[in-house]
Amino acid sequence: MKGVVVINFQKNVVDLICSNFKNNDIISLDQFDQRSILKLFRETAQIKKTNYKKLLNILKGKLAALVFFEPSTRTFSSHAAAFKRLGGQTIEHQNPNVTSSAVKGESIEDAAMMHQQYCDILVIRHPVKGTAKKVAEKINIPVINAGDGVGEHPTQALLDMFTIWEKFKKLTGLKGLLAGDLLNGRTVHSLLRGLSIFSGNTIYLLSPKELRLSKEEFELYEKRGIKLVEIESAKQIPKDCHFWYWTRVQKERLSDKNIYEKLRLSFILSKKLVKERAGKETLLMHPLPRVGEIENEIDDDPRAVYLTTEVKNGMFVRMGLFKLILQG
Ligand code: NCD
Repeated sequence: MKGVVVINFQKNVVDLICSNFKNNDIISLDQFDQRSILKLFRETAQIKKTNYKKLLNILKGKLAALVFFEPSTRTFSSHAAAFKRLGGQTIEHQNPNVTSSAVKGESIEDAAMMHQQYCDILVIRHPVKGTAKKVAEKINIPVINAGDGVGEHPTQALLDMFTIWEKFKKLTGLKGLLAGDLLNGRTVHSLLRGLSIFSGNTIYLLSPKELRLSKEEFELYEKRGIKLVEIESAKQIPKDCHFWYWTRVQKERLSDKNIYEKLRLSFILSKKLVKERAGKETLLMHPLPRVGEIENEIDDDPRAVYLTTEVKNGMFVRMGLFKLILQG
């Protein structure tokens, strides 16, 4: 139609990556195989050691829409930083339920249709599981799931896995601990999917019984070959873990606030616990925000990466992803 610019190219909708990221959505860790993950990590490692100034042409002229229906600090900022560090620009909607036509009742599909007329890629966070996939199926530009309710948070898992890979140079034969809200924590759901792509991994699960992984999720990951061991006390944490991955109790997913108060500090990553049960090289990780479940005293421990390496890697992994998706 004259005068109307319609961005119209075919993308693979929520497809397996199979080492080809070009124009692909990133909705779930289920889209990945070993080669695709390692391809992304090699790209990321390359970007990480390159001077920022040399990267500015990669996304020059490209525009990303960042649309976050749930609060975010790191995921929002790191996507924005990643896109801009590669020379692109962003349209940013934080809290669209207040600041966009969502207030007037516009559907998420219509809003996504708008963004594809302006932008080259859409990064979306939404409280309802499955929303990123629904949007990806509707529009023709690539969609990145920045968290869909209790579903998944694939880019967080990728940055967590990159942090582990960078340290131990492998993603097989790992022993790890996941602690906290394993029922509602979407980062955990993506991380377990990701770790189950590689062989020989054993993961210990420590959570209050009300917040254990659902039976379905537990069986799904086990079927894929990852060994899961539920433990009930911090005393059962093996002393030779490669990583501990702590998480907060997801207050916003619990309808009964008394239950939240009862469970929120069930397991605390304390200096004493680190002394008693962590190995010399155990990475101490957390997707953040932390709200009391990690003692601040641990922050200076060289094994604690949650406020430093893990966060920074979040930007680099997203740079790697943007580059592979938009440039190939
Ligand atoms: C996580 C999330 O939003 O799922 N945060 C993040 O993106 N780094 C974890 C959380 O909120 O507990």
